[in-house]
Amino acid sequence: MALKRIEAIASLVPNDAFVLDIGTDHAYLPIYLIKNKIAKYVYASDIAEGAILQAISNINKYSLSGKIKTFLTDGIKDIPKDYNVITISGMGTETIKKILNKNLFLDTYIIQSNNDLYELRKFFNDNGYKIEKEIIVYEGKIYYSIIKFVKGNQILNDSELHFGISYDKSYLNHLKTKFEKIIKNVPEDKNNEIKRQLNQINDLLKKC
Ligand SMILES: C[S@@+](CC[C@H](N)C(=O)[O-])C[C@H]1O[C@@H](n2cnc3c(N)ncnc32)[C@H](O)[C@@H]1O
Repeated sequence: MALKRIEAIASLVPNDAFVLDIGTDHAYLPIYLIKNKIAKYVYASDIAEGAILQAISNINKYSLSGKIKTFLTDGIKDIPKDYNVITISGMGTETIKKILNKNLFLDTYIIQSNNDLYELRKFFNDNGYKIEKEIIVYEGKIYYSIIKFVKGNQILNDSELHFGISYDKSYLNHLKTKFEKIIKNVPEDKNNEIKRQLNQINDLLKKC
């Protein structure tokens, strides 16, 4: 099991939390949280029956059925609301927004989305959440952004909404290279927005 991303998500979970992990798949995160005594108890939900069967088998392998309860369900549907942290990782922003829409009632959400981080940050920011911490993890040749959103006021500017507040030099250099490549393939009269974002990346790099 690739561990760096799971470890990074777990590092943002408050001690003794009661966690709901949505889209748990193999239940790697819940198992890690309990084995490492980070969470007190974890609910693990998934919409796919195969995933839940795999999760149950893994939970039983570590004899953790007394500390992790599985739910075959869509998002948070029919799950008792006695958890205080939600984790969602490995899904796209649209799915995450659909699951959490009208369900933002907790103080803490820890999210790793596979795409559209601008829209993810904007969704939480517009709904009264601030970014407490953002970690970048490089695993399997992919950069993952893991964000801890907590209740609070914060006005994220356009650059922060697009590129976050990790100030991770390696990640920002990766974005810079990507944008420089894109610019080369876009006609001069159509590349204003890309140029503007590249300038934002360069400004963030100066702060690293
Ligand atoms: C790529 S896996 C990610 C697994 C794990 N969270 C991780 O980060 O490694 C995405 C999982 O989300 C589940 N999923 C997708 N939509 C869901 C929903 N609306 N409610 C619950 N689970 C969902 C899928 O069945 C799948 O098991």
